[in-house]
Amino acid sequence: MNPTDSRAPHLDPKDRRPQRIAMLPGDGIGKDVTAEAVKVLETAAATFELPLELVHLPWDADRYLETGETLPPGALEDFRDNWSAVFIGAYGDPRVPDMKHAADILLGIRFGLDLYINLRPIKLYEARYCPLKERRERDVDIVVFRENTEGAYVNVGGNFKRGTADEVALQDEIHTRKGVERIVRAAFDYAVAHGRRQVLMSDKSNVMRYGHDLWQRCFHEVAADYPAIEARHMFVDALAMQMVLHPENLDVIVTNNMFGDIITDLGAALQGGLGVAASANLHPGRTSMFEPVHGSAPKYAGTGRANPVGAVLSSALMLDTLGHAAAARTIEAAVADSLRQGQTTPDLGGSLTTSQVGDLLAAAVSRTPQAAGAGAGAGATRRAAP
Ligand code: NAD
Ligand code: IPM
Ligand code: MN
Repeated sequence: MNPTDSRAPHLDPKDRRPQRIAMLPGDGIGKDVTAEAVKVLETAAATFELPLELVHLPWDADRYLETGETLPPGALEDFRDNWSAVFIGAYGDPRVPDMKHAADILLGIRFGLDLYINLRPIKLYEARYCPLKERRERDVDIVVFRENTEGAYVNVGGNFKRGTADEVALQDEIHTRKGVERIVRAAFDYAVAHGRRQVLMSDKSNVMRYGHDLWQRCFHEVAADYPAIEARHMFVDALAMQMVLHPENLDVIVTNNMFGDIITDLGAALQGGLGVAASANLHPGRTSMFEPVHGSAPKYAGTGRANPVGAVLSSALMLDTLGHAAAARTIEAAVADSLRQGQTTPDLGGSLTTSQVGDLLAAAVSRTPQAAGAGAGAGATRRAAP
């Protein structure tokens, strides 16, 4: 997953120029959990002397409702050329029922930056948070490769006789050979690089005879290049059942955009809930985007009940991608420790607030041995004008 593309000099971890990261808290609890991710990132930057520059971009529903603007003109090109990463809290506001700003910003970044890999780890850090009976931590350790630029998300379709009794609606899925091959290859490359034994492709090719048949053919062609990795297939309905019955038999999963969305909420439940699930939106070598799997949970906004762990683990995925593996591992270990000790928000049965969890994770990161060499001035935060 590490950057190799020569078009992205800002991604070379040996380059000590600041790695500029756009922090987009978004709406609802997105703001609450991003504040905690910032705390942890700033602490990691100071502790490990990372050249991070976090820039706050307040592109939320309020701003959209006031100005009508979602993504400012040129924002995607700017991210692509001048930024190392983008971090998003969550988008979604009841005052914007058509999700216009969320679609423009969140899906706009996924599609516009061609972030074709949506990597979503499903990892149980502490067995008592798993809703399944008698499961140990090692039983739930799955990595989902969700295709992120095609499928049912392309917004292709239309209405005919809209609003009449004869109304027709078409909503197309698009699957391309190039798009399917590259996500399948990414899953196999990950399996090889991370010592995983199996890649399972999931589709509905028994019903979706064109699009998902392309997935079948591409999967078998690519799998032939990886003889050491077991290639499996499962229809997505059967996979949903197996995730609940036998998660221990699952390893790396690759699937289309919509199925990946659905099975990763199920996966989040296996980990203890949406509050702990993290994700990375990647195109190796290019500016990538990181976000928790959960949404803006409006009912919890500003209440201190939002679990910041999914956001903090997403920031660890970001540091890993930016070449700061030790800092990423330290953050993940701090999270695992806090979960084992029951230092959690109420969704996991604890009594801590969002910011108390962030404080204790930041404190744990600052206590690592590297803290002795903490460099002054690292990890500056700058606030951009709205
Ligand atoms: P949601 O993920 O916001 O919340 C569903 C439920 O999960 C919440 O009511 C809460 O009980 C729990 N939950 C989620 N995150 C939590 C956290 N960090 N801590 C504790 N509990 C948590 O999903 P939803 O209610 O279906 O959607 C709300 C809005 O968010 C909608 O506008 C939706 O479109 C949007 N959404 C955005 C994203 C994103 O920005 N990536 C993802 C999913 C949904
Ligand atoms: C997710 C979300 C998004 C998706 C929505 C908010 C567009 O559910 O990131 O999982 O469907 O991809
Ligand atoms: Mn989702």
